[in-house]
Amino acid sequence: MRYRVPLASPMSQSVSDSQSLPRPVRIAGTGSYVPEHVMTNHDLEKMVETSDEWITTRTGIRERRIAKEGEFTSHIASEAARKALEMAGITGSDVDLLIVATITPDTLTPATACYVQQHIGATHAVAFDISAACSGFLYAMEIARHAIGAGVYQNALIIGAEKLSAFVNWKDRNTCVLFGDGAGAAVLTPSTNGCGRILSTTLGTDGSQVELLNIPGGGSACPASPCGAPEQSATLAMQGREVFKHAVNAMRAAANRAVELAGLSITEIDLLIPHQANLRIIDAILERIDLDREKVFINLDKYGNTSAAAVAIALDEANRKGLIQPGNYVLLVAFGAGLTWAGAVVEW
Ligand code: ACO
Repeated sequence: MRYRVPLASPMSQSVSDSQSLPRPVRIAGTGSYVPEHVMTNHDLEKMVETSDEWITTRTGIRERRIAKEGEFTSHIASEAARKALEMAGITGSDVDLLIVATITPDTLTPATACYVQQHIGATHAVAFDISAACSGFLYAMEIARHAIGAGVYQNALIIGAEKLSAFVNWKDRNTCVLFGDGAGAAVLTPSTNGCGRILSTTLGTDGSQVELLNIPGGGSACPASPCGAPEQSATLAMQGREVFKHAVNAMRAAANRAVELAGLSITEIDLLIPHQANLRIIDAILERIDLDREKVFINLDKYGNTSAAAVAIALDEANRKGLIQPGNYVLLVAFGAGLTWAGAVVEW
């Protein structure tokens, strides 16, 4: 079902909803990977005028992972992918659809998914990237589940992967303290035995707010080289306070909508996995929906905001910790540049 919602403000939103498909689709495996190097808030104190106290109280972030030189988004993505494939009990050559959600591709072209295809031997897969910032993993899930649901594909590998450290202005304290590198992946397959399925998804976009959060340089509007953008404009720029407000509103609405489409009430949700950008955003959402704090999975203290990877890493960690059991209802919500937002309910 698609509709446009004209709002009272100049902002206009396009929202797309869908419920369980005639051919249901389940998550058969998850995986994640973060680079070894840990950058703490104390390390950042030596780089910009900030403090562990400011970062912790304003965001909840204590440390983040930074990829080493020569470790690109495709490498990070491939590590997460291998783990998801292993859990699903399939190999790279069984994958027929491979989608990487990223805003930090190895190269503008070809797609990072093509490098991943090579790294993991997904020789039978159609591979491409999508760009929906922090909502990217859930956008990829929506594309993949419809492709499988239509009977066109059998095994989809979806990955949220970022090397944000390559696109952060390390002299800007407003942004550099927030982001980190990492990847999360999931294998989607048809749900043949009736066990586990994606019950609902809702996606939204508001292109009237592109200026709030972007990487202005490096694209055709402002090429990075040889004659183009100064180095700083190929880095993340954000109007934090405005983004904060939109994030709370959009994720609250997406959470409620996804639960409604799944035919559930919020109290039936066993675990909420929200986008891991800021603990205060998560707290503000919880004030607005009727869900216990114990039902929320949070790992942003360890990784910061890893954009498209954040929900995917959190899903894998929760899964591997045994926090999600068969029959549980998991609510995933995300928000990012675009503006984009998304929600999904998965019956595990
Ligand atoms: N250390 C110390 N002081 C700082 C720092 C820092 N790292 N950063 C900003 N400040 C200062 C500011 O300069 C400002 O000082 P002033 O009052 O003298 O002007 C003060 O702290 C307050 O700044 P605010 O921006 O108002 O701080 P706020 O409480 O809003 O927190 C933050 C900023 C953390 C960025 C918050 O707004 C936020 O989380 N926004 C949402 C981010 C988000 O959700 N992004 C999701 C999408 S990401 C993607 O799509 C890639």
